[in-house]
Amino acid sequence: MTTTMMPYRCRCGGGLISTLMAAAVLVCGAVAGTMQVEYSWVYVDYTFVSPNHRESAINSGKFIPENCVILDVDIFQDKNIGLNSNSAVIKQRVFVTVPRIKPGNPASIAEVVPGDRPSSVLLAPYPNWKVNTISEGTINCDNTIVSVFRTKIDYLGRFWVVDVGTLDQFDMAARSVCPPKLLIFDLKNGDRVIKKYKFPSSQVKDVSLFTNIEVDIRDSKACNTFAYITDTDAYKLVVYDFKNDESWVIDQAYFYPFPNKAHFKIKGVDLDFMDGILGLALGPIIQNDRKLYFHAFASIRESWVNTNTLQNKSMFQNGLIDGSGRFFLSSEVRETQSSVEVMTDNGVLIYASMDNSLGCWNTQDPFTTKYIHTIYKSDEDFQFPSGMKIVGDKVWAVSSQLQNQFTTMVTDSNSVKYRVLVGQVDELIKSTGCNKRLASNIQNLDPSKDRLVFSSK
Ligand SMILES: *[C@@H]1O[C@H](CO)[C@@H](O)[C@H](O)[C@H]1NC(C)=O
Repeated sequence: MTTTMMPYRCRCGGGLISTLMAAAVLVCGAVAGTMQVEYSWVYVDYTFVSPNHRESAINSGKFIPENCVILDVDIFQDKNIGLNSNSAVIKQRVFVTVPRIKPGNPASIAEVVPGDRPSSVLLAPYPNWKVNTISEGTINCDNTIVSVFRTKIDYLGRFWVVDVGTLDQFDMAARSVCPPKLLIFDLKNGDRVIKKYKFPSSQVKDVSLFTNIEVDIRDSKACNTFAYITDTDAYKLVVYDFKNDESWVIDQAYFYPFPNKAHFKIKGVDLDFMDGILGLALGPIIQNDRKLYFHAFASIRESWVNTNTLQNKSMFQNGLIDGSGRFFLSSEVRETQSSVEVMTDNGVLIYASMDNSLGCWNTQDPFTTKYIHTIYKSDEDFQFPSGMKIVGDKVWAVSSQLQNQFTTMVTDSNSVKYRVLVGQVDELIKSTGCNKRLASNIQNLDPSKDRLVFSSK
């Protein structure tokens, strides 16, 4: 598992390179760290009750393995376990999303089953088979998970799941069968459902697609919590207020795509995505406020807004707002579009780039090419990064090869298509300049972090 992972520190050029290191240097390039493949799949497979159940699911078209794509990953580490013993054993659970983008997907959210299969580990539907089973026509929207693109586990073990409510999203027969909803499970208490929230129809457009979520905890009791949800296809940001159990929609110009950045070329596949806001990352809390960083998929710029602005519901009641002075757009740009992004406790943004790489930027610096650094790249292992999380000192990411879902090009049926990768944040950003200093005024509400962000190292 990850604890045995020893990232290789590349030292390219100069100095003496021993013969032992020479082989590793070949794959090193100009990047600082590396990402290790933790799990990989040729095709997704599930924990069917029996081989007969699996076979009948395949025969009936309820399970079409090549249509099931892993998009996001999330990790829960239960730190309560092992606190009494000397060796702090952390119980870890890994979850993935398999959005229902095409027919033949038996479960949209699943837990990786630890076991002895090194590749193509099985997926166990989460929280169970029943909730993931679609019986169209008689579907009970309250008790069914239709399709999940991305999730977020907060540091209190609350598992925030956004169900887009549509079936076969990337197919000609795409259709909405339930309103989009938010489900929150309590991973510390037997996966009990804490909240079910259906977004009101006035906040959902025909084209809406709720693709991503960030969770903003603002007091130590965590009642004062907001979720920010991207509506990538209607170009909106939805704010959910946990305490008051209500939501509102923000319409702002920087959530829209840049049409001249809608063209993508990934591993020889040409694609157009007129996709709006997708990447989200929350900065550290400073003076009781924090920034939400965001960008559209069809964009090479980064934007940000203070979350105290987003939390002021009254400001957004009259449609598209004039964001000047509140919403910001970087003047300089990345080389390539970015999908998802994450933030370290100290305010270092790590973003997934559509040239099969990861980049970093210290948010204390201007967003200019001088301060943007490539920290990892792999044309084979990191095709179409589509999900990313920071947990502890590690970054987890999914490479989904999603480009192949939009073409008729036949992919090699024996090749690995989906990967979950893990890297050590410190190793990845070392010697890039992203890590050069910490802000000293960061407030930390997460007790398990042991005031790490105040360390002066
Ligand atoms: C919220 O926004 C309204 C309208 O712009 C403004 O009058 C009010 O002062 C804001 N409230 C807070 C708490 O900032």
